Amino acid sequence: MTHTAHFKVWRGDTDGGDLQDYEVEVNDGEVVLDIIHRLQATQVADLAVRWNCKAGKCGSCSAEVNGRPRLMCMTRMSVFEPDETVTVTPLRTFPVIRDLVTDVSFNYDKARQVPAFVPPKGVPAGEYRMQQVDVERSQEFRKCIECFLCQDTCHVVRDHEENKTSFAGPRFLMRIAELDMHPLDAAADQGLVRSASAQEDHGLGYCNITKCCTEICPEHIQITDNALIPLKERAIDRKYDPLVWLGSKIRRR
Ligand code: SF4
Ligand code: F3S
Ligand code: FES
Repeated sequence: MTHTAHFKVWRGDTDGGDLQDYEVEVNDGEVVLDIIHRLQATQVADLAVRWNCKAGKCGSCSAEVNGRPRLMCMTRMSVFEPDETVTVTPLRTFPVIRDLVTDVSFNYDKARQVPAFVPPKGVPAGEYRMQQVDVERSQEFRKCIECFLCQDTCHVVRDHEENKTSFAGPRFLMRIAELDMHPLDAAADQGLVRSASAQEDHGLGYCNITKCCTEICPEHIQITDNALIPLKERAIDRKYDPLVWLGSKIRRR
């Protein structure tokens, strides 16, 4: 079955822009990205949109559909009523480059600020051994496709540009949690306590566990329950551990 849908698509660039109205054909089984491609092919050849896999795996086609951050290639047109207006806008948290394409370099900057895995001393590569339960814990976080929908949706930066310097966002706090839980990571031997650093250097304390990041994640990663809350618990345990406190006082002398 085919019907004609009413789309509103944000068009503009760094100088500003506005929603433009389009009537466009929709066929059974199509997703929002199909409709954007049809608009490109038939009405607005220069409409800018980022995409790659059309299979929910590259994380490129992130945008906001009726105000909700989504992957356009995984958003079926059948979830909307045929007479419903579908509004497509760029990710709100990041600066627009053009039309639906935003500059997500904030996320690459934050990624670079997280120190990498520190290999354990005296264990040659290929000889690392860890429990299956630890492997599985990390594997959940490794499903991330870097769509940055969680980064876009978190209110700490979504409405507060001023927080961007001090808050890494859920995706990168999750990365710190993953490394902090890694049984072979030897960062602590070099004086880097990852949970403390998450709190002091990457703004973990800004997260008030609203769980919007978890709700929006297309990979269904339990970001809040499995990464952020355990990381908070480890940071707090450390802060109020009398032995850690005593150790830090002695070290400061
Ligand atoms: Fe996207 Fe989920 Fe990764 Fe966040 S954690 S970037 S929402 S896949
Ligand atoms: Fe933001 Fe997720 Fe925390 S949405 S406030 S990082 S639980
Ligand atoms: Fe790759 Fe949508 S095009 S996730």
